[in-house]
Amino acid sequence: MDKKDMLYEGKAKRVYKTEDKDVFIVEYKDDATAFNGIKKGTITGKGIINNKMSALMFKMLEENGIPTHFVELINDRESLVKGVEILPLEVIVRNIAAGSFSKRYGVEEGILLPFPTVEFSYKNDDLGDPLINDSHALALGLATEEQIELIKTYALKINQLMQKYFLERNIKLIDFKLEFGLFKGEVILADEISPDTCRFWDKDTNEKLDKDRFRRDLGNVEDAYQEIMNRLNK
Ligand code: TMP
Repeated sequence: MDKKDMLYEGKAKRVYKTEDKDVFIVEYKDDATAFNGIKKGTITGKGIINNKMSALMFKMLEENGIPTHFVELINDRESLVKGVEILPLEVIVRNIAAGSFSKRYGVEEGILLPFPTVEFSYKNDDLGDPLINDSHALALGLATEEQIELIKTYALKINQLMQKYFLERNIKLIDFKLEFGLFKGEVILADEISPDTCRFWDKDTNEKLDKDRFRRDLGNVEDAYQEIMNRLNK
């Protein structure tokens, strides 16, 4: 399958059409941004790790009944995926308080939540991806009621599967962001699952092993991505 026209270039990936209208090629870059593009940098080798890690995660989720866009790895930086139309919702699941949850609600980072929470952001860079509730998402026509309910069900199932998977590798899954798309009318998991889109803490030391090292200038960014990949390959 060859790359045709570029459909879309995001902050961390490029998406290309192929000769098959149902299949796209995703190319993962080393570019990193934070705070809606205000902070920019490079995390060397990130594109390779995020591509391979997403492939592993999508395969694991498919095996456990979650439909995803993943078709196959092409090379270090590229994967073949089903050509979805992305729903403009960022779906965030949280197990432990961190990041914007801690800031918005004044809860110390690291506090275990009594149950996993699901929230939506409106995927819109011009507006800075604002937090949005179900009623607003419906009113804006971002998704139907059935799609929203299905997305929440999938998100919580994915959380259970990922929490177990990472705990077996000595990693605490703090929170993560998912994106879903429509393929032939069906909601399926899309985008990526990587240290860019998840918070991972070492189970014993709580060391941050994700993009927060870049966002917060903590150093050893590349090492953290590699450490996660090493634990997945074990
Ligand atoms: P937050 O605490 O900043 O809202 O982030 C929640 C999770 O979502 C965290 O695992 C990082 C991920 N995330 C993204 O994937 N993309 C984004 O643009 C943001 C802000 C967060």
